[in-house]
Amino acid sequence: MPLVSSKEILVPAREHGYAVGAFNTSNLEISQAVFEAAAEMKSPVIVATSESAIEYAGFDNLLNMVRHMADYFGVKAALHLDHGKDLDIAVKCIRHGWTSVMIDASKLEYEENVAATSAVAQVAHMAGVPVEAELGRLAGIEDMVSVDEREAALTDPAQAAEFVERTGCDFLAIAIGTSHGAYKFKGEPKLELDRLSEIAGMVERPLVLHGASSVPQDVLETAAKYGAKLPGAKGVPEDAIKEAVKSGIAKINIDTDLRLAFTGGVRRVLTESPEVFDPRKIVGSGREAIRDVVKRKMRLFGSDGKG
Ligand code: G3H
Ligand code: 13P
Ligand code: ZN
Repeated sequence: MPLVSSKEILVPAREHGYAVGAFNTSNLEISQAVFEAAAEMKSPVIVATSESAIEYAGFDNLLNMVRHMADYFGVKAALHLDHGKDLDIAVKCIRHGWTSVMIDASKLEYEENVAATSAVAQVAHMAGVPVEAELGRLAGIEDMVSVDEREAALTDPAQAAEFVERTGCDFLAIAIGTSHGAYKFKGEPKLELDRLSEIAGMVERPLVLHGASSVPQDVLETAAKYGAKLPGAKGVPEDAIKEAVKSGIAKINIDTDLRLAFTGGVRRVLTESPEVFDPRKIVGSGREAIRDVVKRKMRLFGSDGKG
């Protein structure tokens, strides 16, 4: 199946109350794991590439690999630019054949974010490519001690509605307490789900949750058992993800959990079979571990059977 636009994947998700995973890739094995899982689960999927992943693997390698796998596995898939920093990288991706882009100008002042997002939306839409934008800042909310600090970082519902209207972005990534990486919470994990519901009441378009990895205990334990040092790693509990999907999240970004699974798989082979030096056996074990995690996500998000 040819690559499709992420709008084709996410609009039905928002309408019917499930979410689709956007899984970050930067190599062959991660991409295979994601597509094998999607094919098995009959799930649509978004394959995400950060700018640094593109630098690492190259535009054409990523595009041809993902395009071929969508076709080969018969999966409904979009190729997405994750956290694009400006119009230039968005245009490069669109020219190469990406079917979805994100402009992340969330670190800029509100009006500058509006301007940068509007510019990308205008150009991308001419090419029929949908645009994700971000409003609010992803950061550990435990560090935001004052109400003012919290309000400045987390997404404001009324502003979100105005932002979508003014920029014409197709999907909106919001800040409700998640953050990137493996250390999301020092104390009890907490998302502002009431804020999410309020935003969802004012913005009909698909909402996006970044920093959504759960750092599953079993995945963490495997990595640690074979020598990974990740003390204090903590993610978003799976129950909170389920609630977020019920409240309007339609796209869920996962990178950290894939990295953790890969690390555990590779470390296991290297530790248990020190005589092995065939790279395929080493990274192949990481690939298997990622595939299992992705399948579990698809069940959790409710995208299984929706492909
Ligand atoms: O949100 C960012 C993703 O986890 C990608 O990270 O820039 O290290 O590829 P990266
Ligand atoms: P995690 O670090 O929680 O996997 O988030 C990934 C992400 O948001 C990619 O854009
Ligand atoms: Zn992100």
